[in-house]
Amino acid sequence: MRIRDEQPGDAPRITEIQYAAFKGHPRHPPGAGPFEHHIVEKLRASGALTLSLLAELDGQAVGHIALSPAAVGQDEEGWLLLGPVGVLPEMQGRGVGSALVREALARMRGAGASGVVLVGDPGYYARFGFLSLPGLGYPGVPGQYVLAVSFGGNPPQGDIAAHEAFDAGGH
Ligand SMILES: CC(C)(COP(=O)(O)OP(=O)(O)OC[C@H]1O[C@@H](n2cnc3c(N)ncnc32)[C@H](O)[C@@H]1OP(=O)(O)O)[C@@H](O)C(=O)NCCC(=O)NCCS
Repeated sequence: MRIRDEQPGDAPRITEIQYAAFKGHPRHPPGAGPFEHHIVEKLRASGALTLSLLAELDGQAVGHIALSPAAVGQDEEGWLLLGPVGVLPEMQGRGVGSALVREALARMRGAGASGVVLVGDPGYYARFGFLSLPGLGYPGVPGQYVLAVSFGGNPPQGDIAAHEAFDAGGH
C-alpha cells in the first residue's frame, strides 16, 4: 500500500471514492444520496483542504482522507478536523482506512499542530488514540461521538466550529 498526497488531476477519483464509500451509509436516510464527496470538493475550492491523502493498492487509488482547519472553543488556529475518510466498499477491512488515519496524524503532529478533532464512531477511532473529552463538543452531536487527539498542549475545550463546507450536515 502507498499513501500519497493528492496531485493535480486526482479530484474526480477522490469524488468517486468518497461517493462510493458513503453510498448506503447508515447516516443517510433511504433515498438520500451521500454528500461527503461534496464536502471535499468545497474544501478544495475554498483552499481549506489542509491535507488530502490517497491510499493506493497495486497502483489504484482506493481510499481518501481529508483534513481541514477547525476552531475549537477560543482556539482559532492549530486544530484540524479529520474527515471525511472513505475507502471503496470492496477494499474495506484491509487496513487502508487505518493507514490513512495514522499517516494523517503523523503528518499533523510533524507539522506542529495542536491536535486533530473529528465526529465519528469511537469504536473505530479509539485505536488511533481519539477520545471523547469533557468540555469538547460539536453542536447537535452527542458528546460520545466528538473525539480528539491532542499533540501535547492544552486539551481541546469548547465547541468545534468546522469549515462551512460541512454546513450541509456532514462533519
Ligand atoms: C471507516 C472506513 C474508512 C475504515 O476503512 P477500512 O479500510 O475499512 O478500515 P481498516 O481495514 O483500516 O480497519 C478495519 C477495522 O475497522 C473496523 N471498523 C470499520 N468501520 C467501523 C465502525 N464504523 N465502527 C467500528 N469499527 C469499524 C472494522 O471492523 C475492522 O476492525 P478490526 O481491525 O478489529 O477487524 C471504511 O470502512 C469506510 O470507508 N466506511 C464508509 C465511510 C465511513 O463510515 N467513514 C468514516 C466516517 S467519517
